[in-house]
Amino acid sequence: MEKKKYNFSHEQYFSIPIDKLSSDKSRPFPLFIYLEQNDHLILIRFAGDELPHEKLQFYKQKKLESFWSLKEFQNEWLKYLDENPNTNGNPLPEQKTYEARSLEAALAVDALTAKELSDEQKKEVLKSVSSGMMSSLSTIKDPAQFQETFKKFQEFTEDVVQTALESHEMESVYDQIKKLTELDHSVVTSSMSVMFALGIGYSDKDFLANLSIGALMHDVGFIELPTNLLTVPETKMTPEQFAVYRSHVQKGVDLVQKNKIPITTQVKEIILQHHEKFDGTGYPLGLKGFKLSEHSQLVSIADRFGLFMNGLYDGVERPPDAALQALKQFDSGSTPRYYSPELFLTVMQLIEDSRQQSTQTKK
Ligand SMILES: [Fe+2]
Ligand SMILES: [Fe+2]
Repeated sequence: MEKKKYNFSHEQYFSIPIDKLSSDKSRPFPLFIYLEQNDHLILIRFAGDELPHEKLQFYKQKKLESFWSLKEFQNEWLKYLDENPNTNGNPLPEQKTYEARSLEAALAVDALTAKELSDEQKKEVLKSVSSGMMSSLSTIKDPAQFQETFKKFQEFTEDVVQTALESHEMESVYDQIKKLTELDHSVVTSSMSVMFALGIGYSDKDFLANLSIGALMHDVGFIELPTNLLTVPETKMTPEQFAVYRSHVQKGVDLVQKNKIPITTQVKEIILQHHEKFDGTGYPLGLKGFKLSEHSQLVSIADRFGLFMNGLYDGVERPPDAALQALKQFDSGSTPRYYSPELFLTVMQLIEDSRQQSTQTKK
């Protein structure tokens, strides 16, 4: 029965019903979770690693029915079942629950909050989740699918960021900001910044929270621009229009200060630097190279992707996959102009990897 549902190689894995696992015993076998979207198994715990009961409960709430493990550990599993015969159906103690609206978010939140995982393990899980989700971008063609996918991405981002905000009492700021920036472009930029960051190995909760908030706010200065200017593609603006347009950067910072929104230095840098370029030809300050924060460079890449999609770069609207391809060509010369070359190449590699996952899944 299961073979019909799952496409990965069955010879190597067996399934473990979640109800058969005990929450207080360490397990002498690794645990994987299957993500249907990209037909991918993600290693969440090595053999012997803890999976605390609140996490087990968390996965049950996400209606996860079974984990998977490697066949070579089947004897350990049978022995474990013998030793823990009464686990089935045992109610788990009430525990603090995490926010997660999808299995992907559950995996990411688990990794970000798991004290028992090494940094390397966390990064592996986060990378797999991100590139798995991004692989769905290459098949989207119509706008309805597009809306649905980015809604999912944004929910994922919010769930991930929520785990960091708890520790920072920044939650109310986040809610305020969401009200200020209802624009689709902000949502796309924020969720793609987080996807890129997770996909290339960032696993620091504060970094991700600042990145997401800064990306949501990066164009907050648009509120002060004439609305008719906001529909003119960047490359089609007259010099006069462009002069007004570029003022959105400083206007954004002024607006935040005027409204006394308590933003972090990193968020301010994102607002200020998202149009700076690696070669120093950006605006408003013409900052060069490594003076630019990593946050703002990531947001700048995601921002550009958003502009390729919504047509506000050159008047051409593109589906996500074409926008990613346009992004790839945007700064691919031997002399980087816009972005830190290392960062840009790593993000481009992530895009390529997730496209390949998508073609493999389709086969
Ligand atoms: Fe901008
Ligand atoms: Fe933007």
